[in-house]
Amino acid sequence: MKKHLIIGNPISHSLSPKIHNYWFKKNNINGVYDKMTPTSKEIEKIIQNIKDGKIHGMNVTVPFKQDIIKYLDDLSDQAKKTNSVNTIFKKDGKTYGDNTDIFGFEMAIKQSNVSLKDKTALIFGAGGVVPSIVVALQNLEIKKISSSNRTKEKIKNIKDRFSLINEEKWGDLGNHDIYINATSVGLKKEDDLNLDLRSLQKNKTFFDVIYNPPMTNFLKKAKDLDHKIINGETMFLYQAQKAFELWHEIVPDIDLNLINFLKND
Ligand code: ATR
Repeated sequence: MKKHLIIGNPISHSLSPKIHNYWFKKNNINGVYDKMTPTSKEIEKIIQNIKDGKIHGMNVTVPFKQDIIKYLDDLSDQAKKTNSVNTIFKKDGKTYGDNTDIFGFEMAIKQSNVSLKDKTALIFGAGGVVPSIVVALQNLEIKKISSSNRTKEKIKNIKDRFSLINEEKWGDLGNHDIYINATSVGLKKEDDLNLDLRSLQKNKTFFDVIYNPPMTNFLKKAKDLDHKIINGETMFLYQAQKAFELWHEIVPDIDLNLINFLKND
């Protein structure tokens, strides 16, 4: 039985066990996928288990995507660029960290038929997912990326890593083609970034990395003004697909059956 695991805190809401266990069945893989919030000691043990072949694959979510790096032997270029790891496995005898969030974001944009070539983006937030979004936007040939964060501290880390990023004052929307919520605001239904979108020109795209709830206030306000909206579901699906491919060399299907299965408990 091939063991898999996701670590995060909180972790109870994660749909990763559900999606991967579904794909194991579909693809006749004798696998199991669990979730947990580990202590530092437990993290060390888990990584050792990966090295020993006792755990086949692991995902990492908030707040461990950066902290986990110090326990790993080797990183993909994508993980190095972002300093963020969400997928781990054993490669050439070494524990190896990769980043499939970049692929997830890119696919979410492509699936929505939005072209970002030579366009401009404003990202709200400066947390752990932002470097992956920035690299994905660069891969999509965006012209300019701005970032806006409530406090100064975290945005400095992002700017140190990606010097091309412009800083926008919190609350200033400017005039961009895509607005991306990468904050944790929206995880609770009543959460609201309190942005006033009424002065924006028409036909913008709004992207929220949050997939549960599917309609955050950020997206709802944009939809009410007829802008295009994309929630984090497709990004979630494709980061999982790429992780599965890295572990099993199979590209699992993303179809309506899967999407309906994930929606129903
Ligand atoms: P991660 O683990 O992804 O790095 P995080 O560090 O908690 O998560 O980052 C969450 C992001 O949401 C941060 O950019 C945070 O802004 P601050 O750096 O100012 O804390 C942002 N965020 C959280 N709550 C917020 C709120 N009420 N209003 C605006 N931004 C908020």
